[in-house]
Amino acid sequence: MDVQPKSMHGIWSGRWTFILAATGSAVGLGNLWKFPYVAGTFGGGAFVLIYLVCILLIGVPVMMAEVLLGRAARKSPINAMDHAVVASESRSAWRYIGWVGIFSALLILSFYAVIAGWAMDYLILTVKGALFEVSGDEAVLLFSNLVSDPLRLILWQSTFLALCFFVVAAGVQKGLGRAITILMPILFILLIVMMLLAVLKGDFFSAWKFLFAFDFASITWRAVLEAMGLAFFTLSIGMGAIMAYGAYMPAEASIGRTVLVVAILDSAVAIIAGLMIFSIVFATPGIEPSAGPGLMFISLPVAFGNMAGGQILGILFFFLVVIAAWSSAISLLEPAVAWLIEEKTISRQRACVILSSLVWTLGIGTVLSFNIAKDIKVAGLTFFDALDFLTANIMLPLSGFAIAIFVGFIMRDDLVRVQMSDLKIKYLAYWLWLLRYLAPIAVLIIFAMGIYDKFSSV
Ligand code: PFF
Repeated sequence: MDVQPKSMHGIWSGRWTFILAATGSAVGLGNLWKFPYVAGTFGGGAFVLIYLVCILLIGVPVMMAEVLLGRAARKSPINAMDHAVVASESRSAWRYIGWVGIFSALLILSFYAVIAGWAMDYLILTVKGALFEVSGDEAVLLFSNLVSDPLRLILWQSTFLALCFFVVAAGVQKGLGRAITILMPILFILLIVMMLLAVLKGDFFSAWKFLFAFDFASITWRAVLEAMGLAFFTLSIGMGAIMAYGAYMPAEASIGRTVLVVAILDSAVAIIAGLMIFSIVFATPGIEPSAGPGLMFISLPVAFGNMAGGQILGILFFFLVVIAAWSSAISLLEPAVAWLIEEKTISRQRACVILSSLVWTLGIGTVLSFNIAKDIKVAGLTFFDALDFLTANIMLPLSGFAIAIFVGFIMRDDLVRVQMSDLKIKYLAYWLWLLRYLAPIAVLIIFAMGIYDKFSSV
């Protein structure tokens, strides 16, 4: 019998729908666009290892805590935190975890939609054959033509947000649940096909060496901070998305096992994407793995444009990116939508209109930071860079820290245990140890050293 509160938004139709939804949220631009270029920038192997360790020892325990908070209340993150705070008779300041989560999700969605829009534009370019035999210089020009055109960027950003709007407005089961069960199988099939093609056509061996050769000399605290930020970003934790999805998780599903499956799938996709992208990159002379954010939009197009069958590969690839971004972006919109519905008793559609418009407006800042406002910088960062750094490297780790401390020490013990009742005593103890001690201490050290490292070198 379900002794928990009921969700007014609905429930996933089963454990696997939650797994698919959470994986859909986790697998996105973070895996396909960010992971390869950040790993490339920070030297490959050693960075990848640190990233995986962060996922396992910090990400997984915090993600379990976040799902637990959502499922215990079956409400949006803000109200889920309120519920846990009241039930645990603790200080009301802990409630801010929910607010910070929802706020970060909206900030992230505002730039996520712009980058996803680039992928949509490139999908059309590839279909039209615009990448055919493109040279390095021409690829740079193609990319700068896109980012220097605010109207073109706004068109794609709006189209992408409209896609998210339609899914979220249709509700948890008919919208999110249905979209996920259609999108995720397509995503996995595309990924496998792309991977096989990359192995056949690319330089798989060099890609493997690059991602798995450990050169610890290239590791700085800044790199460790990036690895941790990326681990949070890629698992979608620290911003309410997973808490909101946890609220719709069936009561009998095991949080521990489910989260582990999601983390394994997510890491596997990042590694596969890395191998696939670097196989293609290394097979094309003159392209550097450390190309930065342009890796996917400058280096890969050159590779696609100059290999036999490259057009098909390119179309599949950008389609994959759009699908992955879409299934992630809906999870960034859902927490705030659920909260507006709960608080203001307005319809889901109306909540979606209000929030998508807000995100769209904020996104204009990112759009302009690539053209008209590209020289406006704070501490060397444009609006987009600052937003990316602020969310992934500051807000997410700090909110992950707060979640770990709250669930580890403050939340009423029986409330925690009832959600984890399927875990063997031994595993429960491991999890609590990671959540109470290792995760928060590691987050604080990495955070402090990473920020120091970054700003001492500006
Ligand atoms: N995890 C997504 C990715 O790797 O692209 C990004 C993301 C989605 C972050 C949802 C946060 C979130 F709540």
